[in-house]
Amino acid sequence: MYEDLFSLNDKVAAVIGGGGVLAGEMALGLASAGADVSVLDFNLENAEKKAEAVRSLGRRAQALKVDATRRDELESALEAILKEFGHVDILINAAGINSATPFFEITEEEWHKILDVDLKSVFLACQVFGKQMVEAGRGGSIINISSASSGPPLSKVFTYSVAKGGVNQITMFLAREFAPYKVRVNAILPGFFPAEQNRKVLTPERVEQIMKHTPMNRFGEPSELVGVTIFLASDKAASFVTGAIVRVDGGFMAMTI
Ligand SMILES: NC(=O)c1ccc[n+]([C@@H]2O[C@H](COP(=O)([O-])OP(=O)(O)OC[C@H]3O[C@@H](n4cnc5c(N)ncnc54)[C@H](O)[C@@H]3O)[C@@H](O)[C@H]2O)c1
Repeated sequence: MYEDLFSLNDKVAAVIGGGGVLAGEMALGLASAGADVSVLDFNLENAEKKAEAVRSLGRRAQALKVDATRRDELESALEAILKEFGHVDILINAAGINSATPFFEITEEEWHKILDVDLKSVFLACQVFGKQMVEAGRGGSIINISSASSGPPLSKVFTYSVAKGGVNQITMFLAREFAPYKVRVNAILPGFFPAEQNRKVLTPERVEQIMKHTPMNRFGEPSELVGVTIFLASDKAASFVTGAIVRVDGGFMAMTI
């Protein structure tokens, strides 16, 4: 019963940002539960490495170069996935960039760039892949990657926080919209995990602040996102779970002073 509950056999996952640290690990987790995986990323070399790792687990995998801020590229990717695998059941939206530019120095160009990658990409992928899931009638699971900055905003990462607040709204709005079609829409809210997009933001002073505010007093490990990813992806284990924003943050969001 337990294996059946969490099995993703016969499922196909599209993992956007899957060449990255967190979503790469999530892609491997989905494969370990039985899913075939299409790894989509701006960085094709990294996507290919993750696809190879999925294959080494005995699952089918594909790597695609995609700029997730462009509808035409997402549509072409969907076409390539359907051609290769025949259907798509799971979508992970994890493309992300970040910047710690002080508020008065943020240019319109930077504002648009961050909102495009961190928010518009989620909107576009939910339209492109969500439409396919709704029309195919097989149900589905969309998992957006939110952030601790989506709640009471974090200092420094202004535009990123605006974007992640929007990701929570998209998640809850589409949970409502897609429920009649058995397409569930949830978000994972990671606390702090050292990765590429936040390398410059994690200065020693910032790390000290984060640790003081994290009851578990450490960073997360990417592998600690795998359990919740498989759970949310499974239409048996999470059959009544939609619109949820699940924190994996060592207690960060539960802390005040
Ligand atoms: N690391 C953390 O502590 C943390 C915390 C909360 C949320 N997140 C979120 O997790 C997600 C994954 O980030 P990560 O921390 O693994 O960083 P990462 O930099 O390792 O991964 C981000 C990936 O997004 C890809 N990407 C960037 N722009 C893209 C575009 N236009 N089209 C397609 N792909 C694009 C990058 O190539 C990279 O592979 C992001 O949404 C990030 O905001 C991370």
